[in-house]
Amino acid sequence: MKYNFDKLIDRTHTSSVKYDLRQAFFEKGDVIPMWVADMDFETPGFIREAVIRRAEHPVYGYTFRDTDYYQPVVAWMQSHHDWIIRRDEIIFTPGVVPAINFAVMAFTKPGDKIIVQPPVYPPIYRAVSDHDRRLIYNQLICQEDTYLIDFGLLEEQAKDAAMLILCNPHNPVGRCWNSEELEKIAQICLENKVLVFSDEIHADLVMPGFSHRVFACLSPGVAEITITAHAPSKTFNLAGLSTSSVIISNPMLRATFSQVIEKMHLGMGNLFGSVASTAAYLFGEPWRLQLIEYLDDNITFTETYIRKNIPALHMFRPEGTYMIWLDFRNFGFDDKTLKNKLIHDAGLGFNPGTDFGPGGEGFMRMNIACPRATLAIALERLWELFSGIS
Ligand SMILES: Cc1ncc(COP(=O)(O)O)c(C=O)c1O
Repeated sequence: MKYNFDKLIDRTHTSSVKYDLRQAFFEKGDVIPMWVADMDFETPGFIREAVIRRAEHPVYGYTFRDTDYYQPVVAWMQSHHDWIIRRDEIIFTPGVVPAINFAVMAFTKPGDKIIVQPPVYPPIYRAVSDHDRRLIYNQLICQEDTYLIDFGLLEEQAKDAAMLILCNPHNPVGRCWNSEELEKIAQICLENKVLVFSDEIHADLVMPGFSHRVFACLSPGVAEITITAHAPSKTFNLAGLSTSSVIISNPMLRATFSQVIEKMHLGMGNLFGSVASTAAYLFGEPWRLQLIEYLDDNITFTETYIRKNIPALHMFRPEGTYMIWLDFRNFGFDDKTLKNKLIHDAGLGFNPGTDFGPGGEGFMRMNIACPRATLAIALERLWELFSGIS
């Protein structure tokens, strides 16, 4: 079956953060929304059908997750990530961001140092400061065409840190950290007894030519210090269903983490999220493969357009995720002016790079998970804005 990613869908008036909060976020309600990380494609039919089937049962009472829920997660991890896990190593969480916060609460105490690697997805560093832990920035090194980890700095920082929150694939710079990089992180964290929270929510959205390596899979020792978060939400466009998995091999860490979830009574979760997750993992592979092809074409389309028409704008081609990290520094605008120009002169709703912490100055994040026709309009507007300036 051929899926149609070109279909334009009106998402307004659906309480969509991306669409219906434009006025609140951009002070302009009609920007092309290329910010929040969800996709403008239909959630696939086999997922919608599963949800509708369950919705037709007239009682929406308390539910639990049984083998039907866990087995597809276990099978997916094995088939897609060569990761053999047991059902009892998986803990349901109502989202990956909540899971990061629970891990910070469960495994560290106020004042503890937690390392993050900016520019990075804002809830990652907020989970540290919001719980009065000390934020340690292991800022990524921006090279001409890629981003690298500052291992020298990481070695120093790890000496007295409690935890590292790894983002892999990395949002917003789009790196899929390779085996060598992950091995180095692992070695530093093992030597210094630093726990690793590995946010792998984008792991199933890796572009052709790249691969995702599960951090916890590096060795049994690494698995012992790692808390992994995974979810079907980005890949299958289910973010509104708040359903994710945390996988912890170490039984002590697992028990501690589970206690936090239980104390807050969050383990029950969302009935429709479970149904959708199961359908996604059971039937989603053909859709996922076509999606990646479409996203990769969107990335190439963007790259070709920018190179040809706006050469002063530098784009970091993502290895994973559907976010494009754009470097506007050649234009010489301060961040406020850049943001205003994009919103008010071009009608484009990107995420300001400064939201991602140090290293985001002069950058913007653009979400290209939309029909190509929308992308083409956005790029044309970008060109119109910058054509006279470069
Ligand atoms: C790296 C990363 N982690 C977590 C999330 C959100 O996770 P959730 O919606 O499951 O809380 C996102 C969404 O953009 C993300 O990019």
